[in-house]
Amino acid sequence: MQDSISRAFHEDGAVLVKGLLNQEQLARCREAYDWAVENHGPHATRMFAGTTQQSHVDNANPVAKQRLEALVETLPLGNLFARIWGSRNVWYFAEEVFLKAGGQGSRTLWHQDTSYLPWAGEHWGNAWISFESIPQRNALEIIRGSHRGPRYDGTTFADPDDPTQPLHDNGALPRLPDIEAERKLNPHAYDVLSWATEPGDVILLHPASLHGGAPVDSDFPSRHTFVFRFFGDDATFKPLPKESKAGYPPQGVLFTEELKQLTAGAAFRHPTFRQVV
Ligand SMILES: [Fe+2]
Repeated sequence: MQDSISRAFHEDGAVLVKGLLNQEQLARCREAYDWAVENHGPHATRMFAGTTQQSHVDNANPVAKQRLEALVETLPLGNLFARIWGSRNVWYFAEEVFLKAGGQGSRTLWHQDTSYLPWAGEHWGNAWISFESIPQRNALEIIRGSHRGPRYDGTTFADPDDPTQPLHDNGALPRLPDIEAERKLNPHAYDVLSWATEPGDVILLHPASLHGGAPVDSDFPSRHTFVFRFFGDDATFKPLPKESKAGYPPQGVLFTEELKQLTAGAAFRHPTFRQVV
């Protein structure tokens, strides 16, 4: 069982772990999630708050940091990643909060998190925890094995008519392929992983994987997802392209000050990140 999970994570860049969290753990995650939505941080993007058409994305909220570190230490995620990676140490990076409501959300555009964050190495993982039963057509999608492929430029996420509009746009990274356009022409153009999930199931994703999707629709109108991100011994600092039009600092926009002491290729370490294994 463990071997198959490890193998899938290493080879595919993503794996579903059924029933990883029990009801009590899920309830504590949900309590922290609801608090995080109410008390959002400086990186949050929100639309239509308080209405039925709500959309809310947050990242690395400093106000939630201590609370979430305490929560994450009680969950089996750190030990699971240690075993999957074969890493002696595991650190918790930070959370992502995703809320879509109202049944009219569009797809999240295909991207790699490593186009936005200065990360390289084998030992990175996002644990994707959703509180609803999610049908496969509304699920997160991952291109199998893409974490071993190129680091593409990101999308700006700004233009629905140009889903690969380059983020850094300075030629340093290759432009994303238009995966949805190619799939429309040929549904088998890409080897896409996705799973229907139940509460307690956790999807583990290497953040260099191409991923996207997870829309809501009238049959599945709202989704609440908490993501906890971890790294291990083989995690290195890989700066983002300099002089990019996006104006991103080479450290990215999360923990920018803390990461300024790291040089390209250095081990990704800073005391701000709580060690959990
Ligand atoms: Fe992502």
